[in-house]
Amino acid sequence: MAWLWKKSKPEANALSPLDRDNIPQHVAVIMDGNGRWAKQRGLPRVAGHHAGMKAVKRITIAADELGVKTLTMYAFSTENWTRPREEVDYLMRLPSEFLAIELQELIEKNVQVRMTGWREGLPAHTLAALDQAEADTRHNTGLILNFALNYGSRREILEAVKTVAREAEAGTLDLDKLDEETFTKKLLTADLPDPDLLIRTSGEIRLSNFMLWQSAYTEFWFSNRYWPDFGKEDFEEAVREYQRRTRRYGGLK
Ligand code: IPE
Ligand code: IPE
Ligand code: MG
Repeated sequence: MAWLWKKSKPEANALSPLDRDNIPQHVAVIMDGNGRWAKQRGLPRVAGHHAGMKAVKRITIAADELGVKTLTMYAFSTENWTRPREEVDYLMRLPSEFLAIELQELIEKNVQVRMTGWREGLPAHTLAALDQAEADTRHNTGLILNFALNYGSRREILEAVKTVAREAEAGTLDLDKLDEETFTKKLLTADLPDPDLLIRTSGEIRLSNFMLWQSAYTEFWFSNRYWPDFGKEDFEEAVREYQRRTRRYGGLK
């Protein structure tokens, strides 16, 4: 009957070291809870966004230290434009504020800054800061720090469908030959692998229009912590949990 006893993996606990051979290559983070963090302290919502910037720095360093290859930070969704004007304006100033302080260190740490999202609609000063950071880090070879800004997955998929339809109409694409791999290349994330691990903070358990196609086989991890409070230990806990999971992709393991 010995075969009935399932051989269990050694239980990983909070103190066990991380497996350096099983680090998620692409970690995506839905940085949520800035507003509630501020409210809890009797501060304006934008104070939460300001504090959230420090968490971006912390988690970038944590991810880099672990050997994560790509860290995508969901910073502004296509739906976030519906927020009050002052809040949107503040959020649009954050990239230049963040990069003014951090770019030099990012360059030194060999980080590559990128952006995923629609350029149109973004203020010129926001784009200028991101373009500058992208240009200054283009030749770096370390962690890709990718900001999802003015990003929304339904629109992304819809635009890809339109591109495919136009190419088919023009005769440059054979619809019968269109496969998942080719379609993936039409998305805004064409150059990135799918996320292995998705983290969302603040206790909300939803995707909010984030990487719907790309997260088909992503491992999800949710934290009750508000984003400004999210630390290195939390990030490592997420990775530890990721390492406990068995990814089956529909097959048998
Ligand atoms: C996340 O925090 C930042 C953005 C969405 C830009 P929120 O601003 O959504 O904070 P909550 O969810 O209202 O607490
Ligand atoms: C998702 O958070 C978008 C970002 C973190 C940038 P939201 O706060 O906008 O999501 P909902 O509205 O709670 O779904
Ligand atoms: Mg929110």
